[in-house]
Amino acid sequence: MLEIDELHVSYGKVRAVRGVSLAARPGRVTLVLGANGAGKTTTLRAVMGLQSVDSGRVRVDGTDITGKDTHKVVRAGVSLVPEGRRVFAPLTVEENLLLGGYSTSATDRADTLQKVYGMFPILSDRRDGAAGLLSGGEQQMLAFGRALMSRSKYVLMDEPSMGLAPSVVQTVLMTAREIADSGIGVLMVEQNAEAGLQVADEVVAISQGEVGFTGDVAAARADRAILRAFLGESALSN
Ligand SMILES: Nc1ncnc2c1ncn2[C@@H]1O[C@H](COP(=O)(O)OP(=O)(O)OP(=O)(O)O)[C@@H](O)[C@H]1O
Ligand SMILES: [Mg+2]
Repeated sequence: MLEIDELHVSYGKVRAVRGVSLAARPGRVTLVLGANGAGKTTTLRAVMGLQSVDSGRVRVDGTDITGKDTHKVVRAGVSLVPEGRRVFAPLTVEENLLLGGYSTSATDRADTLQKVYGMFPILSDRRDGAAGLLSGGEQQMLAFGRALMSRSKYVLMDEPSMGLAPSVVQTVLMTAREIADSGIGVLMVEQNAEAGLQVADEVVAISQGEVGFTGDVAAARADRAILRAFLGESALSN
């Protein structure tokens, strides 16, 4: 289990994350909902050691990784698919993937690369092409593949559907589901609540840096505050 326990993070006087507790579990998708500025990205960055933590704990299968350098967090089994994908456009698809596997041995890297190509045939087809020439959806697959290259047990995903054509959103989120089904714990921030709920197991809603709801998808769909905030008024009358 990836366990975030009473996390507090601030930017100067701005207390962006105030006592957030949540968990990701192997084989499960934990969906994090929250309005703009709720503290979702800050939470993920704090887990990755990209943002310093005021207090609280982050544990990976019982090992405390709070405040550890990012490369140590990656080695402990956690990787991040960042907001906006952040693929290296001039590099080839394969070079991007290999960068994701920098922390593993050459043998593991070669082995994992083949697994990633098996999971994403499009990346295999385009392996020698520049990453910048991929479509948005393909770049998201590349960002997923790059995260998997570190052989992580837990993958954090920051708004994977952002900026993608509606027809591609489903495919990308189904891929997140498949990643979880392969045994990985997925912690997914997603503004597209309806699409996110279709692939999630657990739901955590964050508002102004605090957790307001934790429960399974059925409980989330039955929660009036969740419906109102994330699914629109029309969902309330159903
Ligand atoms: N680098 C920064 N410096 C100062 N304040 C920041 C910084 N990054 C975020 N914040 C503030 O921290 C709070 C949480 O921001 P965060 O980016 O974590 O929210 P979010 O839930 O990811 O929002 P979004 O849906 O817009 O991505 C906001 O009030 C934001 O303005
Ligand atoms: Mg964000």
